[in-house]
Amino acid sequence: MIKVTKKINDVMKRDKKVMFTTTREHYPFVVAKASGDYAYDIAGNRFIDFTSFISVYNFGLNGNAAIRKAAKDQIDKLMHAAFLDYHSELPVKFAENLLTMFPKGFGRVFLSNSGTEANEDAIKLARLFTKKSYIIGFYNAFHGRSLGSLGITATKLVHREHYGPFPNVAHSIYPNPYRSQFNSQTPDELALACIDHLENVILAKEYSPKEVAAIFVEPIQGEGGYIVPPKIFMKELRRIATENNIVLVSDEVQAGYMRTGKFLAMDNFGVTADIYTMAKAIGGGLPLAATIARSSFGDTPSGSHAGTFGGNLVSVAAANASLNYLKKNKRSLEHLVKEKGKYIMKRLNKLKDDYEIVGDVRGLGLMLAAEFVKNKDTKAHAPKERDAIIEECFNNGLLLLPTGTSAIRIIPPITMSKENIEKGMDVFEEAVRKVNAK
Ligand SMILES: Cc1ncc(COP(=O)(O)O)c(C=O)c1O
Repeated sequence: MIKVTKKINDVMKRDKKVMFTTTREHYPFVVAKASGDYAYDIAGNRFIDFTSFISVYNFGLNGNAAIRKAAKDQIDKLMHAAFLDYHSELPVKFAENLLTMFPKGFGRVFLSNSGTEANEDAIKLARLFTKKSYIIGFYNAFHGRSLGSLGITATKLVHREHYGPFPNVAHSIYPNPYRSQFNSQTPDELALACIDHLENVILAKEYSPKEVAAIFVEPIQGEGGYIVPPKIFMKELRRIATENNIVLVSDEVQAGYMRTGKFLAMDNFGVTADIYTMAKAIGGGLPLAATIARSSFGDTPSGSHAGTFGGNLVSVAAANASLNYLKKNKRSLEHLVKEKGKYIMKRLNKLKDDYEIVGDVRGLGLMLAAEFVKNKDTKAHAPKERDAIIEECFNNGLLLLPTGTSAIRIIPPITMSKENIEKGMDVFEEAVRKVNAK
């Protein structure tokens, strides 16, 4: 049982007084250090981490020894190299290395610092390349919180309230097979109904495809509840984009970088986008983001787009070490994602069979979630029960994060030991049992 000490309460009180509130509210976790599978708080409590610190530490908490060494070595040489104005080799080397992970035809990279920036960059590139302005996004999507990407984000009202207006963005419907929209009978029928809405309502009555620069899509909706769409949905988006000279942007910020067992989550759908955005795990724990585009788009005019810290040498050194680790161990990482994902899904399916409040379990690879409901027939969301489960798990040494209206995500580092995955699932199961019995 976790002990919440005076020291922990003290930091939380001081935080509340001086920091603008973000999303920290679920539990009194004041982190001190982390390594491998475990995070420790300032009172010495130890936690198994099923969050990868929000999908960042895919290869173990605090990166791994090679990632840390690369960053430390670079700190002693040069940290910031003004990559927007001066040349340096390391970011170029990293971009070359990164491009080897992309399909043929992808040849240009823009480096920035966060997921939202990577998406801002993609918005600008799509507008520049097509000379068109409108963007299509999807309800339930999360692309970031700066004003351009926030316009495409449509997960929760609280993200957007008072920050608009957001001109030039339209939202369409992303298929959610568990809560099937349009009364569709099968997931594919649902996907095609969503595509029909996009093509014959949004693009036929409101926004001319002649004016649409980009369609932004998450291969799996992350903050929106870990929603996996049917394959045909992505294939149809590809068709619409190609037919209308619209840039298809795959936001891989949360789902990419091996989380689903593939470097690019979009590969699960057999579809190639035109621009990919990546952040979170790509920096190995340091802030880094990348926007990767097809060479055929050409280049940006000098001075038209840049940023002071994009290509920061310490971040890039860590990212390059992380990418080298990934490339060297790709086969075994793929295997680990498959094996561990299968094990967790088996346990989640059993929970769904055994407990009324577990409405749906879903995901791909090690990007998994369980959605909690008041009862299986009405599928009414059960956010209070979901929060109670997260709190119960926290009290028993397991870190979890919510997603969507009433789901919990399960995203351990890919390298987490089987033993700790089992232990974590035991804690989770016991919490579900307890809350279900209330
Ligand atoms: C799919 C997706 N895109 C973009 C972002 C924004 O990334 P950042 O918080 O680094 O700006 C997130 C963050 O959760 C995300 O999940």
